[in-house]
Amino acid sequence: MSVQTQGANEAPTCHGGLENLEQEYSYALTEVEGEIPSNLKGTFFRNGPGRQKIGDQPFGHWFDGDGMLCAFTFDNGKAHFKNRYVRTPKYIEETAAQEVLYRGFGTQLPGGLMANFLKMPANPANTSSVFHGGHLLALNEGGKPWKLDPTNLETVGEFTYDGQLESSMVFSAHGKIHPRTGDYINFGAGMSGFGITGPKPCLNMYRINPEGKLFKKTQVPLQSFPFCHDFAMTDRHAIFFVGSIVFGNMLPFLLGSKSISDQIKFDPTIPLKVIVVDLDSFEIVKTFESDPGAIIHFGNAFEEGNEIIIDGMFADNFEANDTLSNVFNPDNRFGGGKYYRYRLNMITGSMSSEQLTEVESEFPTFNNDFLGKRNEVNYTACSVDNGANSFFNAIQRITFDGDAQLITLPPGYYGSEPMFAPATDATSEGDGYVLEVVYNAYDHMSELQIYPANDLNNQVCNLKLKHHVPHQFHGFFSCDVFCDVG
Ligand SMILES: [Fe+2]
Repeated sequence: MSVQTQGANEAPTCHGGLENLEQEYSYALTEVEGEIPSNLKGTFFRNGPGRQKIGDQPFGHWFDGDGMLCAFTFDNGKAHFKNRYVRTPKYIEETAAQEVLYRGFGTQLPGGLMANFLKMPANPANTSSVFHGGHLLALNEGGKPWKLDPTNLETVGEFTYDGQLESSMVFSAHGKIHPRTGDYINFGAGMSGFGITGPKPCLNMYRINPEGKLFKKTQVPLQSFPFCHDFAMTDRHAIFFVGSIVFGNMLPFLLGSKSISDQIKFDPTIPLKVIVVDLDSFEIVKTFESDPGAIIHFGNAFEEGNEIIIDGMFADNFEANDTLSNVFNPDNRFGGGKYYRYRLNMITGSMSSEQLTEVESEFPTFNNDFLGKRNEVNYTACSVDNGANSFFNAIQRITFDGDAQLITLPPGYYGSEPMFAPATDATSEGDGYVLEVVYNAYDHMSELQIYPANDLNNQVCNLKLKHHVPHQFHGFFSCDVFCDVG
């Protein structure tokens, strides 16, 4: 592995953290700086591409790396780590062949037009995970969920909720558990049929009860095929931001000359549309329109009087896709959006927004017990200029009023989505911990850093892994313990 450096201090860049982790581990985390809190109990799942290459051949996009789940389990002041790849057909067959056999979001098969003609991208099950209704699922918005055994991360198989997810239906990586009912609400991009201008785009919406039964679904009609990755949710409404990042002409993709990634673009002539859907009726109740832009990830949302208030990471371009489609280019850096707050007036139809902080922010998280309700604190991964900012290198704790606490990692250390984990004896929103997987590019090793959620300045402990963990996308914290921590 060649090490790239950046800045006057010649700190290594993030790119070593994109190298494959082929090996699958299961071991007690015994190398601990500080003390694992005794009131931290549960399992911190993370999902992301565990490998970005087959042999020496890199995939054509970060989104095409094979899904590898990690599980950090905490119980009685001890911790355990395991990781395992999702056994999709893509993973199994490409592992055996040691060459790219499947087309991806940005990966084209060798062999040109004929090799790619009418081939659909594989589902690498690599974006996020959820434990709901007794099912641990690995999620990717391009396909169905993949079910795993939470005790050992063994793959059970593709999951369709007893056939309720029909063959054409995909399932996003950003479903949300509704705290009041325990239902899981999710969506997926789809088609509602064919009109005189071609396929009619829509969003399929799904509602799954706490027993894991998909009992309600509908189609929300759209005017164009947007890149709709996440949504916001209040107690009563789902809110979709249909933004200016869109899929352009898909004919070259279907014919095989271009990938989907080649055809996705930020179109500054397309306004940002907001669609508010009632969670009980699944009917559109209000739409809004704003200047061009896009939200990739949302923070919390809630309702106050006639207003819906939504936090989201705003982008006015999609230059990030250049990095995502060429992850090993040392000149590219992984950036983020800007932390914005939106206010939708459900009576007047007006919409306003304000930027809360200047720092580049992504992967917003918060105490999920407060999902859909007014909360006081959110966390984001940030990128700041510390001389080595090729990837997220800071954590932000930001209050509802916009007061931000920023913790910057040393140059050469790269972070990830900060995850809130409630303490077992929690009595208020901030009683818990922030968990953050950090890549140490000097040693090509990873560690799990644990901070008190109320004050990131006082790190509680640092758990050293025996290897690196490739940069991943999203985590999920379950209060359940599925294995013996040892
Ligand atoms: Fe995401």
